[in-house]
Amino acid sequence: MPHQLLYGSVAVHTFPHPSDFDILRKSHANNAAKGMTGFLIRTPVHFMQLLEGKKEDIDAAMARIQTDDRHLSLRIFYRGEADEPSFQSWEMGFAGLDDDRLDEAMRTAPENDAESAFALIALMKELSKERHQSRARWSEAG
Ligand SMILES: Cc1cc2nc3c(=O)[nH]c(=O)nc-3n(C[C@H](O)[C@H](O)[C@H](O)COP(=O)(O)O)c2cc1C
Repeated sequence: MPHQLLYGSVAVHTFPHPSDFDILRKSHANNAAKGMTGFLIRTPVHFMQLLEGKKEDIDAAMARIQTDDRHLSLRIFYRGEADEPSFQSWEMGFAGLDDDRLDEAMRTAPENDAESAFALIALMKELSKERHQSRARWSEAG
């Protein structure tokens, strides 16, 4: 049973920013080495990230993430066991989104509230499907 952790934070840099890709590159490398999966959203204001894997690996990653000065005001929306990972094939999916409603949802999401966290995770799943589709379209186009 994988452990899941969903948090939100306030991005320090403007959107989009080259450091977003450094974060993504590092996440891919470190998370793949631990068999972790997840999804990262960047908006003009926020980061929101779901981490999935063994509890001790998530704790170790979070210890690094929490002290990263590329974001502030980190709040944990959810932490718990899941029946199965939501992002089985994603070392760290990524979406950069400029959407006021999403920023509002992240700003007002309560901490440690499973129901609202599951709604945010469902949104991430939708975004990852869209990305799969657009990838398929790109490869069809040659
Ligand atoms: C929003 C955000 C998300 C991050 N996500 C991850 C992650 O999923 N995995 C990871 O290893 N590092 C992540 N990082 C980077 C860590 O804070 C840290 O820089 C990195 O883990 C250091 O890895 P190293 O010790 O291998 O250099 C993230 C940083 C930020 C700001």
